[in-house]
Amino acid sequence: MLRAFFLIFFLIGVAVVSVLGFRGQRTTNPPIMIFPDMDYQPKVRPQAPLGFFTDGRGMRPPVRGTVPIGYELPNPQAASSPGAPLTPNPAGEQDRLAFSVGSDYQNTGKMSATWGTGIPLPVNAELMQRGEQRFNINCAICHGPTAAGNGIVKQYGMATIISLLDERIRNMSDGEIFNTITHGKNTMFGYGHNVTVNDRWAIIAYLRALQRSQNATPADVPPEARIELEKQ
Ligand code: HEC
Repeated sequence: MLRAFFLIFFLIGVAVVSVLGFRGQRTTNPPIMIFPDMDYQPKVRPQAPLGFFTDGRGMRPPVRGTVPIGYELPNPQAASSPGAPLTPNPAGEQDRLAFSVGSDYQNTGKMSATWGTGIPLPVNAELMQRGEQRFNINCAICHGPTAAGNGIVKQYGMATIISLLDERIRNMSDGEIFNTITHGKNTMFGYGHNVTVNDRWAIIAYLRALQRSQNATPADVPPEARIELEKQ
């Protein structure tokens, strides 16, 4: 028993001296590294040279046409032809492509202190088609192509995704939906940094059409068309 105690005491003594005993002394020897790959990783450090690229720089310039998050997009014509010089947007074009900049209804979804409703753009076929395209790119992965809440992400386990066809969302003001797209809500991330203001409104217009189409009654079908349907 006593021998075990002495042995433990001795080992603790060795451990304490080996950890603390030699501190405070300078050495020119390299430190002992148990896992040197933690300190020396095969990676490129910022501003460091690198022989791999012909220009000898480790840091790469952004790909031509890259747009910083939240900035204005280059005009669509220039963007669609790679290598073409990026000309600034012609006047008026900027409005169509800008991200939230103002404090008005169009940029915030708010009318004074409360959510407003209504699409602040002309609702025409062009806007609806744009909305359909943007909805399918940005929202359908989660909310599903008909907004029924059954997108592919849901099938892979994001259980909180909701159907946008529910009465609560059908009754929700356009401004509040605009705000949800911009800033997100609970477990939904915001998309304001990559969906432009006008595209958000286009998405809302298209979403309203989806909601209407998925909650239609036979009375919504014009009588002539109803007869056609019955024949089939
Ligand atoms: C990554 C998945 C994902 C994407 C993409 C996504 N959503 Fe959502 N969305 C959710 C989830 C999850 C909720 C439920 C949030 C909660 O209450 O927890 C939600 C809720 C909502 C709501 C209801 C908010 C409320 O007040 O309850 C609206 C409206 C909505 N989304 C619209 C959209 C629109 C429009 C887009 C496309 C721009 C979009 N979402 C893209 C996941 C997503």
